[in-house]
Amino acid sequence: MNYRHHFHAGNFADVVKHAVLVRVVRAMQRKERGFLYVDTHAGRGRYDLATAARGDSLERTPEWPAGIGRLWVRQDLPELLADYVALVKTYDQQLGNLEPGTGPRFYPGSPRLVRELTRPQDRLSLFEKHPEEAEALRIEMLRLGAVGIQEADGYSGLRGQLPAKEKRALVLIDPPFEAQDEFVQVVRTVADALRRAPATTLMIWYPLTERARVDAFFDDLRQLGLPPTFALELTVVGPAHALKMKGSGLVVINPPWKLDQELAPAARWLAEALAQDAGGRAEFYWLVRES
Ligand SMILES: C[S@@+](CC[C@H](N)C(=O)[O-])C[C@H]1O[C@@H](n2cnc3c(N)ncnc32)[C@H](O)[C@@H]1O
Repeated sequence: MNYRHHFHAGNFADVVKHAVLVRVVRAMQRKERGFLYVDTHAGRGRYDLATAARGDSLERTPEWPAGIGRLWVRQDLPELLADYVALVKTYDQQLGNLEPGTGPRFYPGSPRLVRELTRPQDRLSLFEKHPEEAEALRIEMLRLGAVGIQEADGYSGLRGQLPAKEKRALVLIDPPFEAQDEFVQVVRTVADALRRAPATTLMIWYPLTERARVDAFFDDLRQLGLPPTFALELTVVGPAHALKMKGSGLVVINPPWKLDQELAPAARWLAEALAQDAGGRAEFYWLVRES
């Protein structure tokens, strides 16, 4: 378990994931009844971007300037992205960024963003396996109510959460993809979650490093006899580029009604804004169509 999200916080993949997450939470909140949010790989909840360039021993190029950094100063954000950026800016200022004009200093992780939006009837259950990250997450969420945190494996932890007592749940599965069998674990976890609570909305993040692995992942998911499911993929470079992670994707199972249509203009805008070379694009794939 060497992965630390710190280096990647606020990068292009975080931008897409978090902007979609905010919209999905907003859509869940169109209904009055509360819901359970489970983050199986929660991270530390807060990232100080001023330290993002310092590793355990290596100096690294921070990734946020090519992500949230590119949106920070734009005046022409589509509504869906303006909502997400406004949340990040508020958080950054609350934490005391003294120079917000020059860029973000503090970036909220997925649990912190969701907690910013939740109502008294909503509840968060967070899993983080790495002891230091889990401790940082505990500190970050300390004074915020309605949050359960477990320093544990999120894949097995999810089992105990479903079906939710609220009878509605949103699950984010956002693994580091360090292990060879990560896709296999994800598929197994999705199968179990849908058996326990078939109406659960699941969002799964994945890297676009090898097309063939992603296609095999889609095939494995289809074998589960899924409810409506789409994937949104955004690439920042073309297939021949030297960059290892050429883009990232999000599978959304049981998406809120017409979510793809709401996301489409923002996804097209992001593909242009986040492109690092020719070949930046956004694409939707329906694995199982809404009827
Ligand atoms: C990509 S980061 C999560 C980022 C976070 N979801 C966000 O969007 O802000 C993945 C996290 O999963 C943690 N992790 C790795 N394996 C895990 C497991 N089996 N269960 C729970 N957490 C795990 C890592 O320590 C890391 O903090």
